Amino acid sequence: MDIRIERTKTPKAKPADETKLGFGHIFTDHMFMMDYDEGQGWHDARIVPYGPIELMPSAMVLHYGQEIFEGLKAYRTPDGSIQFFRPEENFKRMNVSAERLVIPKINEQDALQALHALVEVDKDWVPHIDGASLYIRPFIFTTDPFLGVRPGEHYYFMIIMSPSGAYYSTGINPVDIYVETNYVRAVRGGMGFTKTGGNYAASLAGQDEAHKQNYSQVLWLDGVERKYIEEVGAMNIMFVIDGEVVTPSLQGSILSGITRKSALELCRKWGMKVSERRITIQEVADAYDAGKLDEVFGTGTAAVVSPVGHLKWGDKIMEIGGGKIGPVTQRLYDTMTGMQYGKIPDDMGWIEKL
Ligand code: PLP
Ligand code: COI
Repeated sequence: MDIRIERTKTPKAKPADETKLGFGHIFTDHMFMMDYDEGQGWHDARIVPYGPIELMPSAMVLHYGQEIFEGLKAYRTPDGSIQFFRPEENFKRMNVSAERLVIPKINEQDALQALHALVEVDKDWVPHIDGASLYIRPFIFTTDPFLGVRPGEHYYFMIIMSPSGAYYSTGINPVDIYVETNYVRAVRGGMGFTKTGGNYAASLAGQDEAHKQNYSQVLWLDGVERKYIEEVGAMNIMFVIDGEVVTPSLQGSILSGITRKSALELCRKWGMKVSERRITIQEVADAYDAGKLDEVFGTGTAAVVSPVGHLKWGDKIMEIGGGKIGPVTQRLYDTMTGMQYGKIPDDMGWIEKL
């Protein structure tokens, strides 16, 4: 694929203090864009200065939400080089989302080429300190100016990038999570397994309620029986119960997380007992009461591996591991971030160099 590159004439100052990046506030100098027109396919790949795009008020995405996205990171290693973690998985998943939302698929090799080209242009924006990285957001949306409900005939595929620190303001410290019993996020047959804006829009009211009660995230239950555990707003969830790692199986309503898959592969490699199955919130509460709920943690690109300190279900508040990070959580965190930041060897074949 040919990519035209137009460099900015007014580069911005890089963040002076990388300890204060936060998540998703700052954007690099350039972005990738490509157009899709029915009959022509994807065309006109280009890297241009980061800035506003033109969109008609009637653009279908603004009304019916036909859009998908991904999230991955570029990491800087101690020798200054830059690398990605399983980036091909993101574009594979993007095409899974595309199919569900009737969005034209991208060529995964072209998308990887675009990713490398864009990071190369903005490589000085990849942070240098531990715990910070360049968060990368590929996304596709329809632009057709039309108010009828149908799949679009015109789309943009874009990639923007944001130097970021920890997703949660607590960093690696445990997050407090509220089990949502009123709202649901997704149902089987819906779009829960995709990364589309609508899933996140559906989560906002629950998240708002959680925040009002001083909880930072929501743990979703299944949309039918409201008893099986699904996932958290921006991460998959795992439990260590009596030494066994248990996580909800993929049944169509939750995202197939790349961090989830990697954590499970590592635990299996370490000889731990791992099971992907349906698990009820009652089972978790019973394990807690029996003193067998050893650890609870979330996994996600933005969240990395995040210990859960408290879990609130109705009137019941479970304090996990004395509010401290547990050994499995810590080992996964150290191993994954170690590989990502090039501090320990990648014996899984997960790292791709820029
Ligand atoms: N679940 C949801 C709803 C998410 O938004 C994310 C973040 O991408 C995840 C899980 C974790 O997925 P991954 O590990 O691929 O980042
Ligand atoms: C990610 O981990 O990449 C996510 O998509 C989380 C995001 C919703 C902030």
